[in-house]
Amino acid sequence: MTEWQKSGWRAKPRVQMPDYMDEAKLEAVEAQLSKYPPLVFAGEARKLKKALGAASRGDAFLLQGGDCAEAFDQFSANSIRDTFKVMLQMAMVLTFGAKVPVVKVGRMAGQFAKPRSAPTEVVDGVELPSYRGDIINELAFTPEARIPDPGKMLQAYTQAAATLNLLRAFSTGGYADVHQVHQWTLGFTDREESEKYRDMANRIGDTLDFMKAAGLDSDREPSLQTVDFYTSHESLLLEYEEALTRQDSTSGKWLAGSGHMIWIGDRTRQPDGAHVEFARGVLNPVGLKCGPTTTAEDLKVLMAKLNPENEAGKLTLIARFGAGKVVEHLPRLIKAVAEEGANVTWVCDAMHGNTIKSSTGYKTRPFDLVLREVREFFGIHNAEGTVPGGVHFEMTGQDVTECTGGVRAVSEENLSDRYHTACDPRLNASQSLELAFLVAEELTSRREAQVASKAG
Ligand code: PEP
Ligand code: CO
Repeated sequence: MTEWQKSGWRAKPRVQMPDYMDEAKLEAVEAQLSKYPPLVFAGEARKLKKALGAASRGDAFLLQGGDCAEAFDQFSANSIRDTFKVMLQMAMVLTFGAKVPVVKVGRMAGQFAKPRSAPTEVVDGVELPSYRGDIINELAFTPEARIPDPGKMLQAYTQAAATLNLLRAFSTGGYADVHQVHQWTLGFTDREESEKYRDMANRIGDTLDFMKAAGLDSDREPSLQTVDFYTSHESLLLEYEEALTRQDSTSGKWLAGSGHMIWIGDRTRQPDGAHVEFARGVLNPVGLKCGPTTTAEDLKVLMAKLNPENEAGKLTLIARFGAGKVVEHLPRLIKAVAEEGANVTWVCDAMHGNTIKSSTGYKTRPFDLVLREVREFFGIHNAEGTVPGGVHFEMTGQDVTECTGGVRAVSEENLSDRYHTACDPRLNASQSLELAFLVAEELTSRREAQVASKAG
């Protein structure tokens, strides 16, 4: 393979990327971004890789979640805090079930560019280029709004930097302290959920009290007061990614400075394409979406390209087949991984294979299908003797009505109440927590089965 360069992708076929008309402006933006500080540091990306390696062996569990698309007009401290808070609550529930550390990775601080199923959109007989995320063009249905503007990369960088700054402040400044576990329950609106959560919070509180009484000064234990919280996004807009790529001075390797983890989407994983070419050269952990159209042959080529040294934690396979289809696809890909002896972390994205159009015209996801895909994912790993390493959700801390179902039963008629996503439908706070309890149950029964088989 030829030596990797951060601009090497430019010589490869590209899909899902905009054709900027103003080349001079594009070059000026790239030059400016290239001078800006990277958003993350190589040591952090390595630490995340190590944590994902633990998840590949079942010694940790990945919780990856956040917006489908971050939007400029929904940028606020409250929305960052609320999503962060729900992820902490979910992580607490999962830790309780799995009895292993939960690796927390937001789809945040960089999730701005979207692949689309069609290049154009038709409304009332008018055809315009599709919206591709706020880093590229605008959602408004006018010809001007849909023109790709390179200047938006600078606004995305600014928003990502400010988001990451607040996440770092929350992670280390006291907000994420486990002693706050009761405070995080504020804002629950559903009774059953909040009772389940409060019950768990009480048990955690008892443990902390016990530790304190026994002289294990839990109040001053740093690992109980801070969390590691990482960022991730789809590495789609390669001009932005390249401009933020930096050489790590200690190892000489290249870091995608746009976020801790990047992933390759279902529509851009062509083995000889531009996106794979970019991702193969960076030291960050890389995710690869695997869908019904992923062939075993392609997967083998991709694993060799994206993880040439077969490092644990380097490559995360994000399965997104859709409920009912997991059984048809996951076993054949698990077999391909085994045939190569490849190190991978298997994660379940129970969102992207379960998108439907409601009778009321909204793009939605029935909560039951999301649950079912998670259960099928666990069931197959349990049967194959492989490790379910984590989950990947589109979710928000806001009380939106975008996915139907859940204990508070969002109906198709309710979807219009608070449908705010710029792209795909997200789970709301209550649905996210409900899902965390279900995943925790799966993890608990898996652990119990393992203990029983050892004892037997
Ligand atoms: C996404 O994660 O938002 C996405 C577009 O997923 P996929 O590439 O799996 O369709
Ligand atoms: Co999405």
